[in-house]
Formats: sequence, structure tokens, C-alpha cells
Amino acid sequence: MKPTEMLTKEHGLIRQALDNMHLAVEKLETGEKPPRQFFDKAVEFSRAFSDKFHHFKEEYLMFARLAQKKKGALDAQIDALRYQHERGRGIVNEIANSIDAYAKGEDAKTLILMENLAAYVALLRHHIHREDHIFYPMVDKELSKDDQKYLLDEFKKKESEDGGKAFANSQKLVQEMGSLL
Ligand SMILES: [Fe+2]
Ligand SMILES: [Fe+2]
Repeated sequence: MKPTEMLTKEHGLIRQALDNMHLAVEKLETGEKPPRQFFDKAVEFSRAFSDKFHHFKEEYLMFARLAQKKKGALDAQIDALRYQHERGRGIVNEIANSIDAYAKGEDAKTLILMENLAAYVALLRHHIHREDHIFYPMVDKELSKDDQKYLLDEFKKKESEDGGKAFANSQKLVQEMGSLL
């Protein structure tokens, strides 16, 4: 398995979470009020899985390895992707900050929650598409067999950190999000 294949598999789970968030936006648009637990879980998933688990591997392991290659031929791509990760973190914080007021029924905050959720879904869908179809194929060409092995070993180390349960726990979280809608 290539390191990028492992990341693509994780994108599959992130996409499922984004589909749930998209459905929540549609419900909010038609005046429905999904329970606050949905949004709490959406924030938890985005921080624990999308960010700490997946983006960590990209930024701190893969981008770091790539930065040492070909005098930075991929630097512009990496900067753009890193910027999108950063934007995503900011939007998730905005979402987290509006949940209490949403639960109290404040209309203005509900609108902000909806806008931020929609923005997050659009940003990450675009980001994942770019990685799967443009960036990862470039990475596959750029990394030697040794680099690939190094990254796979590092990815596996990262995955074993919490007893190897991060993926399964996050799958459960996505299912719970779906059942709250
Ligand atoms: Fe990414
Ligand atoms: Fe990614």
C-alpha cells in the first residue's frame, strides 16, 4: 500500500461526515432544527479525525518529507493545502462557538452556524478533490520507494498511538451523526 492510498481511504470517511453535515445544512435551510448533539459530534469528528489524525499525517509527515525534495517543486501546492487546513480549523472553531446559542434558539447564531457548516463542507470537499486528483498523483511520482516506506511506517506509528482505535471510533461517530438527523 502507498501512503497516499491510506490517506485516500481516510478521505472516504471524511466525505461521509461531510455528507451528513450537508444534510444538516439542508434541514436548517428548511427550518428544521437538528439536535445540538449532531453539531457537537460534527466538531468532535472534524477536530479528532480530520485534523489531529488525517491532516497531521499530511502536514507533519508527508509535507515535511516532500519539502526536502526537488528544491521545493511542490511548495506552492503544499502552501495552498496547508492554508486550507488552517481555514478549516478556523471555521470549525466558529461552528463550535455558535452551538450553545443555537441550542438556546437564537436565530442570528443559527444562521452563522448554517453558513459556517456550509462553508466547511464546500472547503473540504474541494480540498479532498484536489488532493485525490491533483496532489497525491504528484506525490506518488515524487516519492522514492524509501520515502514511501518511511511514510507508511510513520503513519502506522501515528495510528497505533491510541491503541489503533482512532479510525473505528471515528466511523462510529459518523454513524451517530447520521442517526441524529
Ligand atoms: Fe489535506
Ligand atoms: Fe487529505
